[in-house]
Amino acid sequence: MADDLREPVTVAITGASGAQYGLRLIEALVAADHAVWVMISKAAHLVITTETGVDLPARPQRLAEALTERCGAVAGQIRCFGREDWMAPVASGSGAPSAMVICPCSTGTLSAVATGASNNLIERAADVTLKERRRLILVPRETPLSAIHLEHMLTLTRMGAVILPAAPGFYHQPQRIDDLVDFIVARILNQLGIEHRLMPRWGG
Ligand SMILES: Cc1cc2nc3c(=O)[nH]c(=O)nc-3n(C[C@H](O)[C@H](O)[C@H](O)COP(=O)(O)O)c2cc1C
Repeated sequence: MADDLREPVTVAITGASGAQYGLRLIEALVAADHAVWVMISKAAHLVITTETGVDLPARPQRLAEALTERCGAVAGQIRCFGREDWMAPVASGSGAPSAMVICPCSTGTLSAVATGASNNLIERAADVTLKERRRLILVPRETPLSAIHLEHMLTLTRMGAVILPAAPGFYHQPQRIDDLVDFIVARILNQLGIEHRLMPRWGG
């Protein structure tokens, strides 16, 4: 039952490469019994299809049903919100969860969050998370980085956000792409203080 769940975490998937990171993060949060509030940008839908072959519905209710089935979530564990769903709880400090992850984070969304654009619900939710001094983790994937990207990352870091680049290590001798994906998802869960068994901790 959704009532027994741990506190919600907001997950936004934007149109950077690395859709697998975001989808795996949602799975891991579901497995950890957290409620997950999801937003997927229009560009991210295209990237998800391109990179994974998964065709997720655009409408929030249908998207929630599809993710619930895919992740084996209980009814109500995953909620989805649309691009201009300004009445969603994530749009206000009184309703937003204590943590939000943008994974992967496009340089476009990175820029919008750094400048407070709030032109869509993902940007607004991130703005709310920052103003409320809650946990905001951004997982950018771009290479090489321009001065604009680096300046936005520095601005956000100085505001208390965590920049966690999608740059997996190789010292755990990954055998499969999933091992690389789990490396990053484990780092995000560590930041959120959520127990997991995706990767052993260094020295553990
Ligand atoms: C297949 C594909 C891969 C992309 N990869 C990246 C990427 O790695 N990093 C990035 O910042 N943008 C990437 N883009 C471009 C973004 O999707 C684009 O800038 C978009 O406007 C971002 O919008 P959003 O932030 O609302 O999702 C990619 C686009 C496509 C179609």
